[in-house]
Amino acid sequence: MNVSIFGATGATGKLLTERCLSAGYTVRILARDPRSFSLAGYVEAITGDARDLTAVRQTIRGSDLVLSALGAKSWKREDLLETAVPLIITAMQEQKVRRIIVVGSAGAVSTSLDKQPAYRRWIAENILYKTALKWPVTSQRAQYKALSASNLDWTMVMPPMLRDSAPRRSYRIDGEALPRNGVGISRAELADFMMLQVNGAEWVRRGVYISW
Ligand SMILES: NC(=O)c1ccc[n+]([C@@H]2O[C@H](COP(=O)([O-])OP(=O)(O)OC[C@H]3O[C@@H](n4cnc5c(N)ncnc54)[C@H](OP(=O)(O)O)[C@@H]3O)[C@@H](O)[C@H]2O)c1
Repeated sequence: MNVSIFGATGATGKLLTERCLSAGYTVRILARDPRSFSLAGYVEAITGDARDLTAVRQTIRGSDLVLSALGAKSWKREDLLETAVPLIITAMQEQKVRRIIVVGSAGAVSTSLDKQPAYRRWIAENILYKTALKWPVTSQRAQYKALSASNLDWTMVMPPMLRDSAPRRSYRIDGEALPRNGVGISRAELADFMMLQVNGAEWVRRGVYISW
């Protein structure tokens, strides 16, 4: 299996890269500074920016599967997913690559919070989504919209707050909305669940929420 990974140098992306290498996949990544990536010796690295169609095309060429854990590092407006995801979709369509599994976020859909207690929903919608999470959520909504409008076999895995803590004994999955009182998930469990989707059919052309 040839896999392209966007955002491989990030916290979740590195876990995805490790899991792909353990599975014996051939991995190509797009990174702005691959030399600083600890797994650089085990992958083919294209140096470039995810907002550059040429670099995106080069990354996807010959792939069977695309994974993305792309995200802006700052909370300011960067339009990263707004720009990069349509380019990834275009390159995949040109090269007839069908399967993409991405990290989204629990705020990516207007019905995301339907299972939350009213006070939590109010705080998220009236405070967090208007302040600290304004641009990350705007970007994730754009990613969801772009993938939904595509003809690709996409899966968007939508977590609440990501943690670097150890996996717990179990986590919840929901196709309709963030599980009630779901506040976090480890990046390790997120990456494990994304890897399960490589050969799974249940969540194709859908978003799916994951939370402890
Ligand atoms: N943090 C949370 O609590 C949380 C909650 C829900 C959802 N999410 C979503 O989860 C995803 C992953 O989060 P994370 O914390 O694991 O990510 P992260 O550590 O911030 O990594 C982001 C990755 O995106 C890459 N990237 C950023 N701009 C780029 C560009 N212009 N061109 C190429 N690559 C670029 C970074 O590369 P560099 O190494 O070059 O910077 C890095 O590899 C994000 O989409 C985020 O929105 C996060």
